[in-house]
Order: sequence, then structure tokens, then C-alpha cells
Amino acid sequence: MAKGQRLDKVLSNMGYGTRKEIKSIIKKGSVKVDERVVKDSSMHIDPYENHIEIDGVKLVYKEFIYIMMNKPQGVISATFDARVETVVDLLDPTYQIFEPFPVGRLDKDTEGLLILTNDGKLSHGLLSPKKHVPKTYYAHVEGKVDEKDQRIFKEGVVIDDGYKTLPAELNIIKSDEISEIELTIYEGKFHQVKRMFQSVGKKVIYLKRIAMGDLKLDEDLALGEYKELTEEDLGKLKNR
Ligand code: URA
Repeated sequence: MAKGQRLDKVLSNMGYGTRKEIKSIIKKGSVKVDERVVKDSSMHIDPYENHIEIDGVKLVYKEFIYIMMNKPQGVISATFDARVETVVDLLDPTYQIFEPFPVGRLDKDTEGLLILTNDGKLSHGLLSPKKHVPKTYYAHVEGKVDEKDQRIFKEGVVIDDGYKTLPAELNIIKSDEISEIELTIYEGKFHQVKRMFQSVGKKVIYLKRIAMGDLKLDEDLALGEYKELTEEDLGKLKNR
């Protein structure tokens, strides 16, 4: 078993502690590799091939974790905050050990689809301004959203700092005192949806992200719930 990775490195990558802590767990005889207690933390293993147990619990090795969350209002899209609850705080410790972070941000009062991962490459690909990954939002907007707004958004709308957004698709579900809409944008400026409506004299009073790339929010997830992405889901995200 000379090839592969050091046992202590595999375990520390999976969040079981520092190398020093892991060395002591191994010394105590808590770790088995292929049914045999091991005492040498420098031994090389193949984490995908060898059967590893810690205190009798099988370790299922994976390097990356991909989570879809239905983000509730009131939590922030960050990994840690001393005062406010974060989306990572909502995760079970068995997921937190992978040190996931949110891919992009939703405002504190925005709900809906948020991806959490520890895969920096995927995150970068989804957030890169060059990739124009579509993001679709459902919103309640104060004021009658009409065809004129649709045309303006289709052209690109100049927001408060003078930036002209990329063309966006506005679908009007209900035009009334409080309108219901879906909007697809191809970039992710700070507060972009709210600022786009502000530019046409309207106010977003409820906002929920419902899709990113070809991946739709699983409507079976209640607010605050999450699930691991399937290979198929991942394909929909990476398919750009
Ligand atoms: N646009 C906004 O205004 N807020 C969000 O949270 C996401 C997009």
C-alpha cells in the first residue's frame, strides 16, 4: 500500500482534526484500514479503495460536496458570522466538516436556490462574469409591471450606479398593484434584481431564486432544508 495518500492527510481533509489530533486518534487504535487496526498515521492508503473505519463507523470518502439549499430569509450567505446565523450554520456537522461555502450570495431577505460546495473550480465557473450563467428569480413587485418594463429589461436597464445590465427576460405572471413576475438575468451584480426594478420605479417586496444554469430549485425542499446534488443535478450546473 505504498501508493495513494497518507492516512492522516485523508482524515484531516475530511475534517477529523489536525494532523496532530489524528495521530493521537490513530495511536489510540480507533482507526481500522481493511478491518485491521492501524497505528501508523503516515501509512499510504487509497481512500476510494481501502475500507476505513473510525470507532467502528465506516468512512465514506469524497473530496467534494455539493448541496442545494432552499435558503430561508433571515440568514446570510456566508460561512461564518459572529452575530447573524449563516447558511453554513444550517448544515449538519457531517456536512460542515467539508467546509462548504455558498456559491455567490443571496440577500438576507431573499429565499430560494443556493448552492454550497467546497469545489472552488465549480464555484468560479458559475460565478465568472464571462460565463453568463442564467439565474431565474420569482418576485412580488409593488406596482403594475407591464410590457414597457419587459422591453426595457430586454434592452438592458441602467441601474443606480450607471451600469447598463445585460438583456434580461421578464415574464409577467400577474400585473396588478402587487405584480408577480419571473426574471432571468445573466450576471450577478449586488442587489441586481431589486435595483433593476428600482430603475423602473418599482419595489421588489419578495424575492426567491428558482433556478441557476439548468438546475431548478427542488420544490420539495422546505425553507432551510437542503439535499446533496445528484450527478444529474451537477451535470445541469456544469453544462455551460
Ligand atoms: N438580486 C437581488 O436584488 N437580491 C438577491 O438576493 C439576488 C439577486
